[in-house]
Amino acid sequence: MSNRLFVFTGGTSGPWRVISARTLAGEGLQEVGRLHVRGADESPPAGASQWSLQGITSNERYVERAEKEQLVARQEGLARPEASCAALIPIRKSAAWWALTQDERRHILEEQSHHIRIGLEYLPAIARRLHHCRDLTQPEPFDFLTWFEFAPEHGNAFDLLLERLRASPEWQYVDREVDIRLTRD
Ligand code: HEM
Repeated sequence: MSNRLFVFTGGTSGPWRVISARTLAGEGLQEVGRLHVRGADESPPAGASQWSLQGITSNERYVERAEKEQLVARQEGLARPEASCAALIPIRKSAAWWALTQDERRHILEEQSHHIRIGLEYLPAIARRLHHCRDLTQPEPFDFLTWFEFAPEHGNAFDLLLERLRASPEWQYVDREVDIRLTRD
């Protein structure tokens, strides 16, 4: 499992410089200047840190075959040289969301909110990695750590994507969300 476990550390070191941090729901996170992202088996950053969030990549829960084919055909990987902008958006969903069944959650995520259909419109410009936090043995403050990388010219498209998703029924179940924007110096 360890190569699926990632640690995001907010503090004074790391290649990503924080350009903004906005709390959209629930409690915020302490302000930091830099972000360090690593696999759990790599060494932690040298400088002082204010917080550390962990999550694991996992199998998909909701994607159907036809959607998967479109995603695989269009999506790009992380660490593209031109993708000097990033966003870390930790998200927690409410108890009401987790009380739903798998098919009810899929219905809200896609049939009602079109999360995947909308997201596909922004590929390949936006690269992403979804980390899950709920099943870690150590309790984590968020359910998901979402990570996105893009070139500066796609920043406006990324904002529009977020506006569309946040207006959807799925987001009524988001009870904590912090939007941290970064640039690689
Ligand atoms: C889940 C696609 C952008 C937040 C998913 C899933 C897909 C997807 C396919 C379902 C994974 C599964 O089956 O388990 C995309 C695409 C995007 C995009 C193609 C375009 C860049 C975003 C954005 C956010 C976001 C901007 C906002 C932070 C999430 C969250 C989940 C998720 C929190 C987990 C939902 C849950 O399991 O309850 N996304 N997404 N996504 N996405 Fe996105």
